Amino acid sequence: MSIAAAPEAASATVRGVGPMTRILVIGGSLRAASHTTALARATAELAPPGVTVDVYDGLATIPAYDADADAGDAAAPVRRLRDRIDRADGVLFVTPEYNGSVPGVLKNAIDWASRPHRSAALSNKTVAVAGASPSAYGARWAIDDLRRVLGIAGAHPIEEELSVPNVHEAVTEGALTDAGVRDAVRRQVEALVTGLRPVAAAA
Ligand code: FNR
Repeated sequence: MSIAAAPEAASATVRGVGPMTRILVIGGSLRAASHTTALARATAELAPPGVTVDVYDGLATIPAYDADADAGDAAAPVRRLRDRIDRADGVLFVTPEYNGSVPGVLKNAIDWASRPHRSAALSNKTVAVAGASPSAYGARWAIDDLRRVLGIAGAHPIEEELSVPNVHEAVTEGALTDAGVRDAVRRQVEALVTGLRPVAAAA
């Protein structure tokens, strides 16, 4: 993992945490026993006080992006995704790596959330990127691609990234059990909260 370790118990004071700070977490795998889903779900218990975590679980319901279908009212699952992103102060993406990049289902959801251009749910949204892989490489390519894609989509990725190699060793029966990785996830959520900025009007 590429984020430095600190004890989980020593919960830091997080700059920027207000009484109603809302973080949406979007995991990029549809697999029932997904490691990245385990990381995504763990954020709810690892978030600092004052931060509400909403774990998105509708990725499988999002249709393939079609600009014609996006010309009028988008499909209900797309509207729900956009609404969840709209209501969040910041979004944490947790991605696996497929063939050296982001899984198509996650990229597809980002494409929907990037439209309408400039007034999209992702426009000016502060986002954080995490990736995990059973390999030693820790989804590095997927993380890099995800950061680039989110930036082009109009979001503001924070500097801090979380790369988790050998993730299968950190997850037990669907739960994130490795103390060091739990701590790294906690600090990535804190980094996102610290990096939240007021949403600026689209230029
Ligand atoms: C993979 N996997 C993989 N892993 C990796 O580190 N780099 C890669 O490029 C790929 N490519 C890849 C392509 C496809 C189509 C699949 C299905 C898998 C392995 C992948 O990291 C592993 O299956 C993870 O467990 C997937 O994440 P979840 O589902 O556990 O979150």
